Amino acid sequence: MGIGRLSDGLARTPPMGWNSWNFFKGNVDERLVIETAEAMVSSGMRDAGYRYVVIDDGWMAPERDRFGDFVPEPSRFPRGMAYVAERVHALGLGLGIYTDAGTMTCMGLPASLGYEFRDARRFASWGVDYVKVDWCHTDGLGPRALYAKWASAFQGAGRPMVFSICEWGRAHPWEWAGTLGHLWRTTWDIQPDWSSITAILDRQSGLHPYAGPGHWNDPDMLEVGNGQLTADENRAHFALWAMLAAPLMAGNDIRAMPTDVRETLTAPELVALNQDPVGKQARRIRHDETGDVWVRELAGGDLAIALLNLGDVAREIHVGLEDLALAPETRVRIRDLWQRADVPGSRDDVSAHVRPHSATVLRIARY
Ligand code: GAL
Repeated sequence: MGIGRLSDGLARTPPMGWNSWNFFKGNVDERLVIETAEAMVSSGMRDAGYRYVVIDDGWMAPERDRFGDFVPEPSRFPRGMAYVAERVHALGLGLGIYTDAGTMTCMGLPASLGYEFRDARRFASWGVDYVKVDWCHTDGLGPRALYAKWASAFQGAGRPMVFSICEWGRAHPWEWAGTLGHLWRTTWDIQPDWSSITAILDRQSGLHPYAGPGHWNDPDMLEVGNGQLTADENRAHFALWAMLAAPLMAGNDIRAMPTDVRETLTAPELVALNQDPVGKQARRIRHDETGDVWVRELAGGDLAIALLNLGDVAREIHVGLEDLALAPETRVRIRDLWQRADVPGSRDDVSAHVRPHSATVLRIARY
């Protein structure tokens, strides 16, 4: 644990879970949340490591109660949030919820400005395990000071809760948010299309020094399985988020996902890469209009390398051992994490034939 970081033991590896926003937007209710939690169990996502079921914007009633407490919209959450938390907990999962630091949420619902301590205690009393705090309607407010207030509110709330800072990267939260929260958004909202994913990826270059156990850069929630993304694009998106030690918050309809989407989200060697205990984020070592090479240091001295083809035709991507700062005479073993198989052949360089809009991920062990 670095100096000045949170030392509450939460999010030692990047948080994993599901969030309602990317697919359902404000259409959240008790049934969706419970059915999703059940589907996380039956699909194998829970056992693959997904833990938090997060209700994003849209859950609150238009008015607080007479004590000033948040009220879940009764037509959507008729039995209240403690009930939802209980159902989610009974499945071995955690419940996450959303609020906003300003005067209103992005959807125009009540938000938390001036109610930080009350709301943190309220969430704790419901049994909430994860809170995302958004940044809409915050004119004139300083994110660093206001998120510091939230950090104190969580410390005094009486229940450990993962704190997700959602300021979209404007005030360079990577420079200050690691002492306050467990993850912080680094960019604007992701969209379910390839150009959004690659634009966000591009913005992560250079942020690797700021991430580590308990404090993570958040390039936004996953769009795997959403929009018109192809199977290769879904896998490339997931692979790069795994490389980045990004929080893995699925954003699709877990209750009705095709097999290839489920297999992507639960790919064991990619999830293990994301959750590597050393918690080092990948850095980009090569970039041009046709492709990227990203490298991540893993526990035990292994390396992970992602060869990303951004172009529209298949091509060979080649990396010399010297590009990986390995001595030329080093002998390496290479494993393809999507294929879950060792790669035979030459051991003095790394190369792969990579389909368009696709990423090959290799784990490299020295011996
Ligand atoms: C945005 C945020 C999204 C989602 C949305 C809800 O500010 O970046 O992830 O939470 O608000 O209205």
